[in-house]
Amino acid sequence: MPDLIAFVGSARRGGNTDTLVSEALSGARKRGATARRIRLADLDMRPCRGCMRCFSGRCKSHRDDMDLILGAMLDARALLFATPVYFWNVSGLMKTLWDRMLPLAGLDIRTRPLAMKPLLRGVRAGVLVVQEEPEGPHGSIPRMFFDRNFLDFGMEKVGEVFAYGALRRGEIKKDRTALASARALGRKLVAP
Ligand SMILES: Cc1cc2nc3c(=O)[nH]c(=O)nc-3n(C[C@H](O)[C@H](O)[C@H](O)COP(=O)(O)O)c2cc1C
Repeated sequence: MPDLIAFVGSARRGGNTDTLVSEALSGARKRGATARRIRLADLDMRPCRGCMRCFSGRCKSHRDDMDLILGAMLDARALLFATPVYFWNVSGLMKTLWDRMLPLAGLDIRTRPLAMKPLLRGVRAGVLVVQEEPEGPHGSIPRMFFDRNFLDFGMEKVGEVFAYGALRRGEIKKDRTALASARALGRKLVAP
């Protein structure tokens, strides 16, 4: 199992999210770590049915690629979540990934308030977000999304990179600061 798994939440191959993930992977590999990219668009990842039967760490409704992904998440040291901003939020692919991560939340629905014994407790986490426009007065919904869920999952947030001014495919390559920050995040995620 790789030390670092990076999830790409854009279906645009060679796009801005994919490009930043390449940099993060190369940063991690330069540290001697094993690192793997998973493009969510390539997966058979069906939508969560909300059956609420997944408390044992396994989805009870679907047999699809998420069986393997959930297992890989448990074995990795660090996870990187990379997404373009779509309508001020994470992409639908990234949201579906998190919906399907419910089996790892260790939720006990018999109690109120809900009790959680998250299976990803202590796993290192990083965030890469790419968007065109600057954030408005409401702040970043993706930042809130990741921070709140890392908290609930007991994950250790190691860092984040937010890149702006990138619309067309691969435009982010002009942003040397964003590329360097993504490399540094990859290094940090696998640091001892
Ligand atoms: C459906 C869609 C919705 C988008 N919504 C926003 C948005 O709300 N704010 C923004 O700044 N950029 C928005 N964008 C621009 C993307 O975030 C930007 O093109 C990004 O670089 C795409 O990353 P990718 O190349 O990895 O797909 C949107 C793009 C698409 C296709």
